[in-house]
Amino acid sequence: MFVMIARWVKVCEAKSLKSGDMFEFDHQDKKIVIVKIKDDLYATDRICTHAYADLSIGILNEGDKTLTCPLHLSAFKLDDGKPQNLPAKDPLSVYEVKVENNWIHVFL
Ligand code: FES
Repeated sequence: MFVMIARWVKVCEAKSLKSGDMFEFDHQDKKIVIVKIKDDLYATDRICTHAYADLSIGILNEGDKTLTCPLHLSAFKLDDGKPQNLPAKDPLSVYEVKVENNWIHVFL
């Protein structure tokens, strides 16, 4: 039996991201995007829950902290992953983020 254990994963240098930037990466079977808005960092799955579209090429709205799918335009809140409009109904998974020694880590 294979058991996956979540742990902090070192991803990228914190200073490499400015507000409005996105950084996508893969970890095991997960496709993740980190988003920086002002001093806040968010990490979510980057594949839309409606169909297969990569949210890292979607539209970031820094004001309401949403990421909009480029295919059918569902917007997802970055803090809890919930869709704000159809057609997506299911939330994205969201992950804890921390900065340690100027490196961004995501709990995966
Ligand atoms: S694929 Fe994202 S809303 Fe349809």
